[in-house]
Amino acid sequence: MSTQASKLEALMDAHRNGNGGTRVIAITSGKGGVGKSTLSANISYVLASRGFKVGLMDADIGLANLDVMFNVRAQKNILHVLKGEAGFEDIVIPLEENLYLIPGESGDEILKFSDATIVSRFIDESQMLEGLDFLIIDTGAGIGDTIQMFLRAADDVVVVTVPDPAAITDAYAMVKVISRIKSDLYMVVNQVRSQKEGAKIFDTIKKVASGNIGEDLQLRMLGSVRYDAHVARSVKQRVLACKELSNIAPAVEIESIALALADKKEHKMLDRGREGGIGTFFKKLLGQF
Ligand SMILES: Nc1ncnc2c1ncn2[C@@H]1O[C@H](COP(=O)(O)OP(=O)(O)OP(=O)(O)O)[C@@H](O)[C@H]1O
Ligand SMILES: [Mg+2]
Repeated sequence: MSTQASKLEALMDAHRNGNGGTRVIAITSGKGGVGKSTLSANISYVLASRGFKVGLMDADIGLANLDVMFNVRAQKNILHVLKGEAGFEDIVIPLEENLYLIPGESGDEILKFSDATIVSRFIDESQMLEGLDFLIIDTGAGIGDTIQMFLRAADDVVVVTVPDPAAITDAYAMVKVISRIKSDLYMVVNQVRSQKEGAKIFDTIKKVASGNIGEDLQLRMLGSVRYDAHVARSVKQRVLACKELSNIAPAVEIESIALALADKKEHKMLDRGREGGIGTFFKKLLGQF
């Protein structure tokens, strides 16, 4: 058996043994270039290194694609699986122990699949991914329809912003749109000079949100991540900060964000029992719910 196949076998075994369900977390932003891919990749790495099985889905085709960051080449994506041209085992790329890249699709073609037979075969096939503890989705920036569908289908949504005023305005616009489809929402302020700066930005957004959106939305701070030139360079050098530069401040901060997400998963999974997971996520995404 090839190494790739045996690594995928480990994922399917986890499914057969039952692992308590998959938590689907979408990482999004109003403005582009704020650090979604950097955070998605590093959070996924931290969770995987702690023993969780993690799928990292690229739902964005930007300049710094996740496959570029991890130095792998994705030939096929979930659209091929939907079309019946590939199975999940052909598209999933094992990156590290417990960490799997699931190449997604940024266009809206994925949402045009309404044929019930195709969708149901796809959802059956996706059961192989039930072995995942987390599915982290790197969405594109902005409030396009496809992105909104991903956010609607996810269990948790994390909005990333940076301190510049344009990004804050766009993050708030994003929070407002998401408040129509979610009742709770997490924020990360990236590229800050200090934790204090991050907290201040979050407070401002939260005040505006409570004033305009009302108290129905639970907006929570997940953490701030400091700016560090090593991180800016790390992406170009295809180095994961949390793996190879794990002592620098932003790596430590991203690690604590990842562990906070792990903690929330444990609690929420207890609340809701075994419903949810990958099958439910894809059903919601493809409009079957
Ligand atoms: N904390 C940080 N400190 C320094 N540089 C950072 C930090 N976070 C991200 N960057 C850098 O900012 C740039 C944009 O990051 P990234 O590609 O992760 O953003 P993105 O939101 O995924 O962008 P896009 O919207 O284009 O997909 C990258 O060069 C990255 O290295
Ligand atoms: Mg990106």
